[in-house]
Amino acid sequence: MTLTIAIDGPAAAGKGTLSRRIADTYGFLHLDTGLTYRATAKALLDAGLPLDDEAVAEKMARQVDLGGLDRSVLAQHHIGEAASRIAVMPSVRRALVEAQRAFSLREPGTVLDGRDIGTVVCPQAPVKLYVTASPEVRARRRYDEILANGATADFDAIFEDVKKRDERDMGRADSPLKPAADAHLLDTSEMSIEAAFQAAKSIIDAVL
Ligand code: C5P
Repeated sequence: MTLTIAIDGPAAAGKGTLSRRIADTYGFLHLDTGLTYRATAKALLDAGLPLDDEAVAEKMARQVDLGGLDRSVLAQHHIGEAASRIAVMPSVRRALVEAQRAFSLREPGTVLDGRDIGTVVCPQAPVKLYVTASPEVRARRRYDEILANGATADFDAIFEDVKKRDERDMGRADSPLKPAADAHLLDTSEMSIEAAFQAAKSIIDAVL
């Protein structure tokens, strides 16, 4: 049977880095499900279509090609904003969750990261991690990352943005962000990437 590892958590908690490292270590396929919401949002923006028409957004969601997702063209802030707006629409979620579930069954094993993997997309996953960190720490990491890339940033604006994104992701009616009852909580506020990876690895090795 295919082993699926479900990784959830708020924006900028370090899920992406952790997920890629886990996938590399175990030779599993990795899907960053945030990119499916971002790709849907970008397709709407590029076509000049409204973000508040659920039927149109669902049609775009059904056309997303999981093989063609590239964070470098989907990372922009306005795309993340638009993604979190269309992510509240139940029919958009249904369309993307279907594709994500099909992906989760691929051999030899898969790592999916997002907001609702352990609760909705793959509730049967034998390993569920909920990766979090305080809003301040997450905003600081995002800020440092932008500066490291040679750009400028306003810490307070990023901090407000992290809190706003949390509110939208945790407060929505359909599939709100929350840990599955059987998820292992990993608070990375005071942990290095390496320590978070080692903690995740011991949890996974206990199940494999
Ligand atoms: O993780 P990322 O910032 O790329 O996700 C963009 C947005 O997509 C999130 O703010 C969230 O609203 C939505 N999302 C979701 N469910 C997922 C992954 C992402 O609702 N499984």
